[in-house]
Amino acid sequence: MEPVIPDLRHTPKAEAYDRLLEMQTLLLHDSTDAIAGMATLSALLHHAFGHLWTGFYRVVEPDRLLRVGPYQGSLGCQEIAFGRGVCGTSAAERRTVVVPDVHAFPGHIACDARSQSEIVVPVYDGNGSLLAVLDIDSPVPNAFGDEDVTGLERLVAWFTRTTYVPAPA
Ligand code: SME
Repeated sequence: MEPVIPDLRHTPKAEAYDRLLEMQTLLLHDSTDAIAGMATLSALLHHAFGHLWTGFYRVVEPDRLLRVGPYQGSLGCQEIAFGRGVCGTSAAERRTVVVPDVHAFPGHIACDARSQSEIVVPVYDGNGSLLAVLDIDSPVPNAFGDEDVTGLERLVAWFTRTTYVPAPA
């Protein structure tokens, strides 16, 4: 049986992310499959913190288009163009974007009206190419800060260490 995901809503964030990193390492130690990694990390983060939506948008056309990947929560939109919304901004600019108030972010794409704040983190493969973005939505305003940036960037580093995508010949 797989381990139960702990409730980390009241655990100090640095400690909570350390625990999730341990679980991720345990669960994925013999995997190099990016989709398995996305599904597992979505489940861990979503249930440990009780977020509204937790998941990945994958790069399907480099520098042009993201498509929804493994996620947990209510329905996400299918595709997002680079440069659009929080996810497209993070993908186009290759940087983590923290949005304390989604209503104040120009061009924010509302998939769920309950969303109040959001964080989007770029995910790179073993070649250093952008593979996806990790998107998390919260029903709580200003839910994400520096400890989330650090914790999430450490978790998505798994994809850079383990997913090898051969360069075209
Ligand atoms: N809010 C995101 C869109 C994706 S959903 O929230 C699942 C954005 O503005 O990019």
